[in-house]
Amino acid sequence: MGYRITKKENLSIIDFFMEVEAPHVARSWKPGQFVVLIVDEKGERVPMSVYYAEDGKIGMFIRRHGVTTFKLWYEKQVGDELLSVAGPLGKPIKVKYYGNVVFASDAVCAQAESYATLKAMKEAGNYTIAIQSFETKDHVYPEKFLAKPVADEHYLTTEDGSVGIKGHYLDVLKELIEKDKVDIVFAGGKLGSLAKLAELTRPYGIPTIVTVRQIMVDGTGMCGSCRILYDGQIKFACRDGPMFDAHKVDWDDVIKRDARFVEQQNLARERYLQ
Ligand code: FES
Repeated sequence: MGYRITKKENLSIIDFFMEVEAPHVARSWKPGQFVVLIVDEKGERVPMSVYYAEDGKIGMFIRRHGVTTFKLWYEKQVGDELLSVAGPLGKPIKVKYYGNVVFASDAVCAQAESYATLKAMKEAGNYTIAIQSFETKDHVYPEKFLAKPVADEHYLTTEDGSVGIKGHYLDVLKELIEKDKVDIVFAGGKLGSLAKLAELTRPYGIPTIVTVRQIMVDGTGMCGSCRILYDGQIKFACRDGPMFDAHKVDWDDVIKRDARFVEQQNLARERYLQ
């Protein structure tokens, strides 16, 4: 069975949106879970966060970064098919009443997770707060793709202040914590920011659940590629996560492991784009 692309739209100078038919995923997916795409017979397996799953289709936000994502942007159009969409994989987040729920995001996967998580949390009766961080105004998504519709409060930041608040989600979150407005934080995106987030919320004892991104191969806990050190034990991001208690993650180890193949990835991308 093929997985037909039903929508594709540019989001910013670097990210795009794509919707794909994947009825078996859409039927059982829950926020927090992810999928693994294979574009064609020669394709690598690429994990993706899910923006929504409905009517037999899933939406995703994708960064033009590696060979596969450039292929998706340049070579796959609406009506074309992908070879495989495996999932849903990983564990869903626990959706229940917490009170004031924040989702903080500063990278493509997390912007999708922000919408999906806050939608579920709002339906569970929580007061929802989204803090979406981007590099500059050229990286900011069109309004309809932001988490605004599912957020009771919405903050948008850019590093250079070219739109929204100048700064990062960590700055906004600090102010919200000082105003005693935060009962739990969910977050995803850049690993360095998540490590800082863990130290920001730790002294306040605020539960902090974050997506730990690692290089994945099989996505089912067999290959060991996405191994992380968590609470002194080895866990697999694909099988035991991808969301973990940020206060128990060994961030130095996670950041080091994530950087393992940066050089090879950059080389492969340069070769593809030549
Ligand atoms: Fe292989 Fe997680 S991707 S163990």
